[in-house]
Amino acid sequence: MLNFEFKNPTKILFGKGEIAKISNEIPKDAKILMIYGGGSIKKNGVYDQVKEALKDHDLQEFGGVPANPEYEVLIDALNFIKEKNINYLLAVGGGSVIDGVKFLSAAANYNGEPWEILKKPVRTFEGEGMPFGTILTLPATGSEMNSGYVISRRETNEKLSSGGPGLFPQFSVLDPEVIRSIPKNQIANGIADAYTHVLEQYMTTPSSADLQERIAESILISLQNAAPKVMSEEFDYDAAGNFMWCCTMALNGLIQKGVITDWAVHAMGHELTAYYGIDHARTLAVIAPSHYRYNFDAKKGKLAQYAERVWGITEGTTEEKAEQAIVKMEEFFHSLQIQTKLSDYTQDFAGTAERVEKTFTERNWIGLGENKNLTPQDAFKIVEMSY
Ligand code: NZQ
Ligand code: ZN
Repeated sequence: MLNFEFKNPTKILFGKGEIAKISNEIPKDAKILMIYGGGSIKKNGVYDQVKEALKDHDLQEFGGVPANPEYEVLIDALNFIKEKNINYLLAVGGGSVIDGVKFLSAAANYNGEPWEILKKPVRTFEGEGMPFGTILTLPATGSEMNSGYVISRRETNEKLSSGGPGLFPQFSVLDPEVIRSIPKNQIANGIADAYTHVLEQYMTTPSSADLQERIAESILISLQNAAPKVMSEEFDYDAAGNFMWCCTMALNGLIQKGVITDWAVHAMGHELTAYYGIDHARTLAVIAPSHYRYNFDAKKGKLAQYAERVWGITEGTTEEKAEQAIVKMEEFFHSLQIQTKLSDYTQDFAGTAERVEKTFTERNWIGLGENKNLTPQDAFKIVEMSY
């Protein structure tokens, strides 16, 4: 088990009706900017709950942050923050809104061209960001309890990430009731994103970090159990709650401690969103099976462990179990109506592998993966396998 430091300062308010409590979490004299997306919160009652909870606070609002939060829109929000002397941010939405707010938190106190924060990237340390809280409306990314974020810039077809210990939310509200209004394709995205977050921190090589591995396996099993229930038409509060908490636990920093992690699937997936606008989670389902097949020898021990402990496959050699594990993973994505080939999303895919290879080379991303030896040429082959 590797050495680690772990600090996660985000306070979680979990459960039905918890939005009403946020007035206790935000200073009474704060000048708050509530930031949201395309308007789902106005249809499902979340907007009204926030307005009611903060009726005695100084509250302004900025809507229209799109999925895969767009830099240009956020710059408008940044100007608003400066103009109105805002000193507290409240994200009300999914990962895109929360990530957008993290960028704003970092940019509000940054002296320099804001894009540098992503391009260099510049990390934000404790005390440097503007304080913020979140009300999560779409379980998926884990952004509500971590300090990373991803921003897109359509002008240049870039999707870049940054973060730092100064960008944890002060609090996050997780009310499973919000899941009632989420379209099924977005619920499927949430399950697949969280599932892949666990895989990225788990599918490396068997280790001595027994508890870490078993927590990761438990999240995978719990997501598998919740999936058919949250995908069905009838709302199941407990399944929704388990799904929501799994997504948070999948990427709040806990399961990555003491182990090696991969993250190459996300690196390649982000490119597919930048080029074609494919939903984040779906890009992961496209890349993951090819990634595990391409790196089969390095990962077969852990793939076999996943087959045994998560899918109950006990027959066969290590290789046979590992192969079945990848098939099970694909079947799980398919059970969510998520396709696993790039050609299922675009017919315009010729040249994608070359483009990923070139971009990674330009960024000097020459050693991805848990062993830091996955080259841009390897990424080319993995992306090509996923056509
Ligand atoms: O914009 P509105 O109208 O709110 O609609 C949203 C959006 O269209 C809708 N939605 C959200 N909550 C809803 C709802 N519709 C009905 N009822 C509700 N309760 O869902 C759509 C998608 O929302 P979005 O926030 O884009 O989805 P998600 O949470 O999957 O976030 C994706 C973004 O997060 C990044 C991704 O790259 C992508 O940009 N990620 C962030 C990470 C992090 N910060 O740690 C890690 C992830 O790996 C990921 O990269
Ligand atoms: Zn993700």
